[in-house]
Amino acid sequence: MPLVNELEMLKKAYDEGYAVGAFNINNMETIQGIVEAAKLEKSPIILQVSRGARKYANPVYLQKLVEAAVIDSGLPIALHLDHGDSFEICKECIDTGFTSVMIDGSSLPYEENVAVTKKVCEYAHAHTPYVTVEGELGTLAGIEDEVNVEHSSYTDPNTVEDFVKRTGVDSLAIAIGTSHGAFKFKPGTKPQLRFDILEEVSRRLPGFPIVLHGASSVLQDYVKMFNECGGDMKDALGVPEELLSKASKMAVCKINIDSDIRLACYAPMRKYILDNPTVFDPRKPLGVARDNITEAVRHKMRDVLHSSNKA
Ligand code: G3H
Ligand code: 13P
Ligand code: ZN
Repeated sequence: MPLVNELEMLKKAYDEGYAVGAFNINNMETIQGIVEAAKLEKSPIILQVSRGARKYANPVYLQKLVEAAVIDSGLPIALHLDHGDSFEICKECIDTGFTSVMIDGSSLPYEENVAVTKKVCEYAHAHTPYVTVEGELGTLAGIEDEVNVEHSSYTDPNTVEDFVKRTGVDSLAIAIGTSHGAFKFKPGTKPQLRFDILEEVSRRLPGFPIVLHGASSVLQDYVKMFNECGGDMKDALGVPEELLSKASKMAVCKINIDSDIRLACYAPMRKYILDNPTVFDPRKPLGVARDNITEAVRHKMRDVLHSSNKA
């Protein structure tokens, strides 16, 4: 099976009340760990590449690894650009075989966001095969290599119909209280999401797939392991899984997960290296990391996304 179009995946998820995990990939071990989970769970997946990942790995290496994953797994896999910040980067990804792109104009003034998103949609939709476009309204706080937003603002449901109609986007990322990175909520506060906004957005856009970014739950077993092995991630907190599970049964059809992959990779590597001072074969800690990614992703598919057996 070749790479699949994200739109068909998201439509099925909408109709059947689950979400597809969109996992950020940066190297071979993360791809293999995620794809093994999808194989075992018989789940569809979106593998997504950020600008930071493109810089780190050189896009062609990641793309060839994803081609290998498609051959190896026979599963429905979509290849997606995460947080494209210009028409040019979206065009480059479309021209080189991505099946979907995100144009993130969320930090621009509204009319500029409409203009750049429309331009990407016109290009992507005229492409053969059709390439799916994700837009964003509202901003998420948080810091990653290439995504650095200090202040968040919730999505205004009054704008979504106009935005979708004028741009032609196929899916929409909205801000309802999630944020990027591993420090999403202050300790001692009750993590909450604005389900009222999600409900109002889906009332105005019936049948339309919604995307949640910043949706790692910041798996506490890995935070503990990380801290016990000399790390310092005090007060790392994510979105509670029951909230994500609830969202995935609503109009949210794509849930973005990066920080949990990083933790499931890095914490066991830290532990392995500390426990095995004589080992100098990098395949050993990387192999342990890969196995842990598989376990973490299987758990997401079963208990959070509800995408098991939906491939
Ligand atoms: O949303 C951002 C992703 O977590 C990607 O982060 O730019 O550090 O690869 P990155
Ligand atoms: P997390 O940092 O919560 O994993 O979010 C990732 C993301 O939104 C990628 O676009
Ligand atoms: Zn994101």
